[in-house]
Amino acid sequence: MTAALVPCKVWVARPDPDDVRHLQGQSLARCLRLRQPADRARMATGQRLLALVARAVSGDPSARVVRRCSTCGSTQHGAPRIAAPHDRFGISLSHSHELVVVAASDQARVGVDVERVRHHEPRAAALFCAPGELAADLRSARPDLALTTRWVRKEAVLKAAGWGLASPPVDVRISDVGDRPGVRSWSCAAPAGIRPEQVGCADLPSAFVGEDYVGAVAVIGAQRVVVEVILQPDPWESRLGAGPRLRSAGS
Ligand SMILES: CC(C)(COP(=O)(O)OP(=O)(O)OC[C@H]1O[C@@H](n2cnc3c(N)ncnc32)[C@H](O)[C@@H]1OP(=O)(O)O)[C@@H](O)C(=O)NCCC(=O)NCCS
Repeated sequence: MTAALVPCKVWVARPDPDDVRHLQGQSLARCLRLRQPADRARMATGQRLLALVARAVSGDPSARVVRRCSTCGSTQHGAPRIAAPHDRFGISLSHSHELVVVAASDQARVGVDVERVRHHEPRAAALFCAPGELAADLRSARPDLALTTRWVRKEAVLKAAGWGLASPPVDVRISDVGDRPGVRSWSCAAPAGIRPEQVGCADLPSAFVGEDYVGAVAVIGAQRVVVEVILQPDPWESRLGAGPRLRSAGS
């Protein structure tokens, strides 16, 4: 079933090295394996935010985030989700440089991606652009912005599908930067027979992610997505706990 309009909450935070103190188990082990302090801080804040958002949206202080790779079945990596009985909610994480974002929706399959706007060599960009997409972006007023926007829209869709980059972004044709975000077509096997018009997409407002970054969310089973951005809560626990719960699917 496809909902006409689905709200998607997006929490935006800055990496904080102190967040490693709040991790345990698999998240802590993964984080400690990273050598660069900046990488460690990004992962620590990402994992902490994922855990806090899972508890906030489910309303269950014991809600857990689990992951499973759709390619190899490993539970050590892959798309995160909130463990049953809260798996009707969707959750997704992305980090880039000084930005960490977590998106959550009452539709189970949500994807988010953020990137710092960067230069794309046309030959490299051709590897992720479907025919016609690269030419459109190179014609635009700001080709680097257009190409980075195209990339995050594609990656958000592939994350919502649960494949991530195991499925080539070139197979997903996405709307141009000036157009309403959305999937035009895909040439990969569609997730569970979902049609492009059943994937809602939205860009993250630059007022929240900053002019140097672009971001997008995608929700499978939605025609349109309305994004509500929540800036880094402080203090984290009380602000997250105070927010209204997302509606459960079908209610
Ligand atoms: C994970 C991936 C999307 C990372 O993209 P990125 O732009 O470098 O990083 P981002 O910060 O935007 O996203 C990373 C997060 O995406 C999430 N993620 C990982 N795999 C995912 C998937 N298949 N679908 C949705 N989300 C995924 C994770 O939460 C991850 O962060 P975490 O590992 O710290 O929890 C990309 O590298 C990828 O798809 N890799 C896996 C490819 C694969 O499946 N190979 C087969 C392995 S057996």
